[in-house]
Amino acid sequence: MRQIREPRPAVRDEVDSPAAGVSRGPLVIEPIGVIRTPFPAPAGAPIQPSRAGGARGQALVFERFRQGLQDLAGFERVWLIHWLHQAPPPRLLVTPFLDAQPRGIFATRAPARPAPIGISAVRLLGIDDGILELADVDIVDGAPLLDIKPYVPEFDCYPGTRAGWFDESTSDRRVADHRFARHSGESPDDCINGPRKT
Ligand SMILES: C[S@@+](CC[C@H](N)C(=O)[O-])C[C@H]1O[C@@H](n2cnc3c(N)ncnc32)[C@H](O)[C@@H]1O
Repeated sequence: MRQIREPRPAVRDEVDSPAAGVSRGPLVIEPIGVIRTPFPAPAGAPIQPSRAGGARGQALVFERFRQGLQDLAGFERVWLIHWLHQAPPPRLLVTPFLDAQPRGIFATRAPARPAPIGISAVRLLGIDDGILELADVDIVDGAPLLDIKPYVPEFDCYPGTRAGWFDESTSDRRVADHRFARHSGESPDDCINGPRKT
């Protein structure tokens, strides 16, 4: 299996027709906290938890959500679902940190996404009064925290899974450069909304 075949016309019409009742409007999500890290900007931050070399950070959970942290301390890793608040405008084709040619944004973990949501499986060192002490963070300081889920190897780990272009990557890059910094001079051809107006 390489490509998903064209959807049947009825299915495609349901998605593509503005009258089909499929919601396209903005969604409202309330952050449950904020993430603090030593990385003030995208450039210079680790590119993934697996390459973060233990970089430390904290997740501060707002008071009214703290009861939900009960029983989390037993997990060695947690998924942080976070808002990439310093992401550049979305692009549908990007050259990922670990490759040298453009790839579809949904075949990458690049931040320039239509819905700039990050997922990071970080190490949980401890929890004290609503503050999660973390290691292996790849997140810019001040990122809104949208959700926390326990990392469960049976659910989240599929050793030997095929990984597309990444399987051919030989890059040992660990830290982001400026390519997904805001105002990074992205190619207008790749932008969803055309050239950015200045
Ligand atoms: C390649 S992304 C991966 C993030 C997450 N692990 C994922 O897979 O969704 C990591 C890079 O995104 C950038 N980044 C991290 N947090 C960000 C934020 N809040 N806003 C914008 N860019 C961010 C940094 O350059 C970092 O090196």
